[in-house]
Amino acid sequence: MPTLKFAVLAGDYIGPEVMTEALRVLAHVAKLEGFTTEAKAADVGGAGIDNHGKALPDSTLRTCEESDAILFGSVGGPKWEKLPPKEQPERAALLPLRKHFTLFANIRPGLLYKELTAASPIKTERIPDGIDIVCIRELTGGLYFGKPKETTTLPDGDIQAVDTMIYRKSEIERITATAVATARTRKKKLCSIDKANVLETSVLWRKTVTEYMAKNAPDIELSHMYVDNAAMQLVRAPNQFDVFVSENMFGDILSDEMAVICGSLGMLSSASIGTGKNSVGLPFGLYEPAGGTAPDIAGKGIANPCAQVLSVALMLRHSFGLEKAAARIEAAVKKAVTGGTRTSDISFGGASVGTKAMADAIISAL
Ligand code: IPM
Ligand code: MG
Repeated sequence: MPTLKFAVLAGDYIGPEVMTEALRVLAHVAKLEGFTTEAKAADVGGAGIDNHGKALPDSTLRTCEESDAILFGSVGGPKWEKLPPKEQPERAALLPLRKHFTLFANIRPGLLYKELTAASPIKTERIPDGIDIVCIRELTGGLYFGKPKETTTLPDGDIQAVDTMIYRKSEIERITATAVATARTRKKKLCSIDKANVLETSVLWRKTVTEYMAKNAPDIELSHMYVDNAAMQLVRAPNQFDVFVSENMFGDILSDEMAVICGSLGMLSSASIGTGKNSVGLPFGLYEPAGGTAPDIAGKGIANPCAQVLSVALMLRHSFGLEKAAARIEAAVKKAVTGGTRTSDISFGGASVGTKAMADAIISAL
C-alpha cells in the first residue's frame, strides 16, 4: 500500500478551515482506493510571521523539502497588510516557494458546471454548457523574477523603478511541453498568448512555441493570440479556448479573469509543477485553491471547501500518479454540487450549507 508523503501548509483565515475538510475527504478516498497518507503540517504566511518571524520559515521549507508534494491553503489578510510589501504573506511565502522548487508550470483549470452558469457574470446563453478551459501559466520567469528589479534615485532627484521581463528559449520550451501534455488529455487544441507585436520576449515566445510544436506536437492544433485580444475573447466566448499558455504576468491577469467568469473562486484549484522529481519519480508540485483567505467569512464555518478538495485531486494526479482517485474526487465534487448541496457562494440565495456539510456531501458522493 503506497504512502503519500506531503506537506500541509494551511495558512491563514479560511485556509485551515477548508484544509481540515479537504484532508477529511482525502482520508476517505485513501480508504476506498487503498493508499495511506503521511501529512506534515507547517506554518506559512501570516501564521509563519506570527510564530516564526517570517512568512516562509526555514523549518517550513525543510518540511516541504522532505515531502513529495505541498498541499497549500491560502495566505495573507488585513493583519499583515501594514508590513513592507516584500515581507507580506503572499509575496514572501508563495514567490520564494515557486522559485526554490522551480515550480515553473502553473495549471489552472477554469471549470464552471452547467448547473452553475447563473454564478457567472457572463450571460447563460453564451455559455449554455458552462465553461471548461485550462490556463497554463509560466510561473518562475518573466517580470516576476527578472533582474534588474529595483528602485533607484536618479542624479536629477527623480525616482525610477525597473522590473525586467526576461525569457530563455529553454524556459519557453518546458512550459510548452506542459501545455502540450495537458492539451493531449483534452481537445488537442492549444492557444499561445503573447504580445509579439510589441515585446521582444513575446517574439521569442511565439517562435519557440511554433518550432517546438511543429517538431514535437504536430497532433495538437496550435493558434496564437495577442494578450489584449485574449482578455477580450475570454469574456466574449470563453469556450473558444481549450488550453491556453502564456508567460507569467499575462497568465496572472488572465487566470483571474478566467476565475471570475467561472463564477466562484471557491470552486477553482491549481497545480504548480516543478522541474524536480519526488521520491515516487513524479513531479514535485504545490497544489492550492484560487480563492484566497476570505477574512470576511473566516471563523464562520461557511467557506466553500471545494477548491481545496479539488486541489487534493490535482496533487493525487500530478505528484502521485493516482488518476483514478483524482477523478473520483472530481466526480464527487461535481455530483455533490450539481445535486444541490452548495455553500452560500454558489447557492444563488437558495438554501446553503456550511463547510463541513459540503465536505460530508462530497464524501457521500465518493
Ligand atoms: C497568484 C497570485 C500571486 C501572483 C501573488 C499573491 C503573488 O496573484 O497566484 O495568481 O501574482 O502570482
Ligand atoms: Mg494572481
